[in-house]
Amino acid sequence: MSRIAYVNGRYQPHRDAVVHVEDRGYQFSDGVYEVCEVRDGRLVDERRHLARLARSLAELRITPPMAAPALSIVLHETVARNRVRDGIVYVQVTRGVARRDHAFPAPATAPSLVVTARSLDRSKREEEAARGVSVVTVPESRWSRVDIKSIALLPNVLAKQFAREQGAREAWYVDRDGFVTEGASSNAWIVSDDGRLLTRPADQRILRGISRAIVMEVARAHGLVLEERPFTVAEAYAAREAFMTAASQIVLPVVRLDGRPIGAGAPGPVAAALRREFHRHTEFS
Ligand code: PDD
Repeated sequence: MSRIAYVNGRYQPHRDAVVHVEDRGYQFSDGVYEVCEVRDGRLVDERRHLARLARSLAELRITPPMAAPALSIVLHETVARNRVRDGIVYVQVTRGVARRDHAFPAPATAPSLVVTARSLDRSKREEEAARGVSVVTVPESRWSRVDIKSIALLPNVLAKQFAREQGAREAWYVDRDGFVTEGASSNAWIVSDDGRLLTRPADQRILRGISRAIVMEVARAHGLVLEERPFTVAEAYAAREAFMTAASQIVLPVVRLDGRPIGAGAPGPVAAALRREFHRHTEFS
């Protein structure tokens, strides 16, 4: 089946889906995005993803391309046209097309909107979660507003490539004080050696992950001791468990960090339980 992409008002064959060479996303990374999980043909926590998209747009003073209910229709239509049952839907908004000039274009410039969807193999993802994955640490190298889900991802690209070259699935950024901030495309968590669930507070140094918020709700509902505080790499090495969260992978256990086994070197019970319970706490649409 051929894939379909939505580009500025039209559903097009994926291979023909293009934006203008002077799109500000292409030239300046002047745009934002969202990735929403699709499960059993429905969107997971779409409302929160659209709210975060609205916030990212507002922070960068990009005009929303359409109101949330209309955007929701485009997302569902793109998922349906691509017959995605399990996978992700991707939405990107840029400041539009204008003659190259760093400062904002004329206010009337229309933002560009692109939506794509693709299937992910659910059983393969479950197998990966059952095995657990490796992570390597890298120095934090990003700008100071990573709370905005901007498409400017070059440091994330380089970190992820470094991880891949080390045989790892993800890279965790470490700030100057030795604290883990987050992953190249996920939030970072540990279960400390005294059994506390730790993740960094969502300040401007991390993306306020939707999956992160859900895991916090699951943890509270199950009476786990949850602390929103930064943790060091040393704490992570000594942790009972570690895991990461993101819409594309939910809760993914980390079993090695910089080549050292975490806990027993196998997925732990807390991460497994949080993953199992995750979708009981999400909204489907
Ligand atoms: N990444 N931190 C970063 C830097 C991310 O890129 C992501 C998501 C997250 C987790 O956020 P959420 O739980 O809302 O997906 C944290 C997406 C999936 C991506 O870039 O593909």
